[in-house]
Amino acid sequence: GVSALGGVFVNTLPNQPDGSIALGDLEKAIRGADIHQPISRLIILENTHNRCGGTVLNAGYTRRVGELARQNGLRLHLDGARVFNAAAALQVPVNQLTEPADSVTFCLSKGLCAPVGSVLCGSKEFIKKARRVRKMLGGGMRQAGVLAAAGIVALEQMTERLVEDHQRARCLAEGLFQIPALQPTFGMPETNMVFVSLKDEVAKNASQIAEELFQRGIRVGITGPKTFRLVLHYWIGDEDVEKTITAFRDVLS
Ligand SMILES: Cc1ncc(COP(=O)(O)O)c(C=O)c1O
Repeated sequence: GVSALGGVFVNTLPNQPDGSIALGDLEKAIRGADIHQPISRLIILENTHNRCGGTVLNAGYTRRVGELARQNGLRLHLDGARVFNAAAALQVPVNQLTEPADSVTFCLSKGLCAPVGSVLCGSKEFIKKARRVRKMLGGGMRQAGVLAAAGIVALEQMTERLVEDHQRARCLAEGLFQIPALQPTFGMPETNMVFVSLKDEVAKNASQIAEELFQRGIRVGITGPKTFRLVLHYWIGDEDVEKTITAFRDVLS
């Protein structure tokens, strides 16, 4: 999508297990004046990092990447789909994590619980351009106020309670990691996502187990042939966590 619509070449770099990209790797990836290579313009970070387990990038790291970007004439974009979870986990105001970036996106849905919606933040000039691009892409919406109302509730009432989801994620992980057929995919969750894998000796794959869990009223995400992603949010309470652990135990017994 980004190449077709933006005319942009993306260079994805490997993550460290904590979701960060090593500063040395970033530095090496910045292209010089060689006309055979694309021109480097932007660094993008993701916080929290979904596929590393919902891991958190701290303010110091984000600041250092921001400095690296500026020293090399680049901009920094933060894909902060779950940045409020990162702020809650670090117990810092969210702006400590967003300030080093020139632009930020975050989701009002996901942990913040709005039924729909994401927000793009940046300078006035940048947003003016983004509105034009959004219109070109067919993303404009006239009656967005109804959705924005839910977004305001998300921002005003949902950010403080994210720590509850993180606590429940840890309880869920502790319960699941005790089941002999399961093992942690990454480790204990840092935020609201639990990644858990079937051990090699389990004959069934993740989709088969997910189907059996679905019959018991539990819907889990599948991230690989043997791995699951379970996400905690406003609508998942302590009883649901217990029910999920029990269902996994029954299905895998
Ligand atoms: C890490 C990350 N970035 C960006 C997005 C995109 O959000 P939206 O489709 O609302 O723009 C998502 C949504 O799933 C996401 O998980």
